[in-house]
Amino acid sequence: MKINKFLLLALSLAFILGVAKSFNYHEKELESEEGLQGMYDRWRSHHKVEHKSQERFNVFKTNVQHVHTTNKMNKPYKLKLNIFADLTNQERISKYSDSKIGHNYALKGPRKTNLRFIYENATDIPPRMDWRCHNAVTPVKNQGQCGSCWAFGAVAAVEGINAIRTGQLVALSEQQLVDCDNKGISQGCSGGLQCEAFKWIADNGGLLTEEWYPYTMKTEECNRSKFGHHSVTLDGMEYVPENDEEALLKAVAHQPIVISMDPSHPDFGFYSEGVLTGPCGVNTMHAMTIVGYDETPEGLKYWIVKNSWGGGWGDKGYINMQRGVDPPHGLCAINTHCTIPLKSIETRNIEL
Ligand SMILES: *[C@@H]1O[C@H](CO)[C@@H](O)[C@H](O)[C@H]1NC(C)=O
Ligand SMILES: *[C@@H]1O[C@H](CO)[C@@H](O)[C@H](O)[C@H]1NC(C)=O
Repeated sequence: MKINKFLLLALSLAFILGVAKSFNYHEKELESEEGLQGMYDRWRSHHKVEHKSQERFNVFKTNVQHVHTTNKMNKPYKLKLNIFADLTNQERISKYSDSKIGHNYALKGPRKTNLRFIYENATDIPPRMDWRCHNAVTPVKNQGQCGSCWAFGAVAAVEGINAIRTGQLVALSEQQLVDCDNKGISQGCSGGLQCEAFKWIADNGGLLTEEWYPYTMKTEECNRSKFGHHSVTLDGMEYVPENDEEALLKAVAHQPIVISMDPSHPDFGFYSEGVLTGPCGVNTMHAMTIVGYDETPEGLKYWIVKNSWGGGWGDKGYINMQRGVDPPHGLCAINTHCTIPLKSIETRNIEL
């Protein structure tokens, strides 16, 4: 009898509705203000958040309700109370996103449509691809509170094409772009343009290794005396034809691709596992890198996308985003601004 009771308790504790292996809670805690207060304190100690206030607690409660109700719905994805649980959506986006690409194209008007696209004649596109299994993706990084997603998204794509062309997977420097690629619209931690970054790398002698020019999470003075050593060179960049999912698939079949998407929905912010299916907007303010594609046993097709919010965010730092929906711009406008770093086998790196 005693054992049964113990088992029952263990089972009910295991039947936790917040997703396992991250911050967990019991449904009972949601029923009273004291329960929620205790949960808030546990969440703060779990994520080492020292700051505490009534305002933050109010935001936390709203987010808890959202995560809880969404996880009870029969959706192909789950949410979790991650590091963003005491931030409003607006705060999360302004602190942790900031690709200026959507903003920039709104000013410039639509791109030319007849640009060259290197993979336009590609055939035999494999049904699934995961560049992580081909030693072309470095471990997930963390941009921290700096609007440098554009640099992280671009660098992951360069790390990918470099590994594919040379067989050497080397972590490269976001900080060099944050500090030095600032002549155009890019402004370090205040946001930037991933496509400009590829041009900049091609024109400035290459992208340095992360070890040689490490990340500091703030905009600093460009140290040009590091240039010309330990760097990966590029030939230039191309765009994937705009809002063309088939073209994007051809590109990702050949190399990781930097994209922009709308990060503003809370289901993106609190994503934990499964395939994100929306709803989602079209305000392309966050850059990430598509590193593959696949489909679930039920036939739900998705992109495998590397984010730069650390390994604790999402599914070990990644998110699966549904593809084949919301034509022509795709889920969260993921098909809109996709850029390819170009590197041929002949393009030699420096001291690598
Ligand atoms: C694709 O094929 C067409 C027809 O042969 C050719 O004109 C075009 O240059 C090819 N595109 C690329 C990027 O190689
Ligand atoms: C710039 O980089 C060089 C080479 O690593 C280093 O010796 C120097 O201290 C750096 N300068 C600054 C201001 O950090």
